[in-house]
Amino acid sequence: MTDPTIAIAGLKKAFGKVQALDGVDLEVHPGEVYGFIGPNGAGKSTTIRVLLGILKADAGRATLFGRDVWKDAVAIHHRLSYVPGDVNLWPNLTGGEVIDLLVRLKKNGDRAYRQELIERFDFDPTKKCDTYSKGNRQKVALVAAFSTDADLYVLDEPTSGLDPLMELVFRDCVRKVTAEGKTVFLSSHILSEVEQLCDRLSIIRQGRIVDTGSLREMQHLTRNQVHAEATAPLDGLAGLKGVHDLELKPGEATFHLDNAATAPVMAYLAQQGVTRVVSTPPTLEELFMSHYATDVRAELEPAGQAK
Ligand SMILES: Nc1ncnc2c1ncn2[C@@H]1O[C@H](COP(=O)(O)OP(=O)(O)O)[C@@H](O)[C@H]1O
Ligand SMILES: [Mg+2]
Repeated sequence: MTDPTIAIAGLKKAFGKVQALDGVDLEVHPGEVYGFIGPNGAGKSTTIRVLLGILKADAGRATLFGRDVWKDAVAIHHRLSYVPGDVNLWPNLTGGEVIDLLVRLKKNGDRAYRQELIERFDFDPTKKCDTYSKGNRQKVALVAAFSTDADLYVLDEPTSGLDPLMELVFRDCVRKVTAEGKTVFLSSHILSEVEQLCDRLSIIRQGRIVDTGSLREMQHLTRNQVHAEATAPLDGLAGLKGVHDLELKPGEATFHLDNAATAPVMAYLAQQGVTRVVSTPPTLEELFMSHYATDVRAELEPAGQAK
């Protein structure tokens, strides 16, 4: 059997009193696009830094391609492409020079494709790095990462500084490498940002994995809140599949909608003369409140102290 591309078991890491990782377990298989989702401070970057051999874990086991991330870091890095969460560049080099440097370190960069990516990301490679915005620094790392041939792409919140148009370019890049059979590990604090791309995902919170599964299995997490206004009554929504927590008022309705049921529900709304629809994805905070509320209470009232 082939080794999992990423295998993490019981991983712990503390910074002083802060237990950044408190027993993280996860497994990513070859060819998957794996989402690693959690709010700020959850432990995403720490996990990734351990995977890259930048940080040494206090306990637990982490392997990439079946090899120990700490002992075999050099061998592993030949097969890896990484976009850090906070891209720091050499201030006196131009963006183009940094891309050249990063790609040359990998030896197997594709020059023509790099040029194509620079154009598609609408990036000006001639400016000095200290003049770039966060989004532009992100582009330098993305162009370098995707124009390198790797077996695994580790991307730490890669779209956080990008505008929506560039996010589409980014998604194309991910689809291209996965079509070639590569593995992608993608972290984000926004579920809706990665849900179109991921096969499976894990949700991390306070250094622990609180949920893991395919998007289908996590469909309860991907419900949007919908507010609709229409000229005809909307009572019929009550009988439609995928509609939850329906609240009806004259001329308007508010409900949660399973993404998979979007088409029939929109067809019904159109038929009822819809005049306005607002659809909002849940924030991670809302997800945590609605799905892990018992955990939250347990944290607020540790065992033995509950009244
Ligand atoms: N080098 C560090 N020194 C001290 N604390 C750190 C360091 N790196 C991360 N932390 C802390 O560890 C926790 C997890 O951080 P991080 O892994 O960066 O979260 P995320 O990437 O999910 O936002 C946070 O509480 C953060 O403040
Ligand atoms: Mg981070």
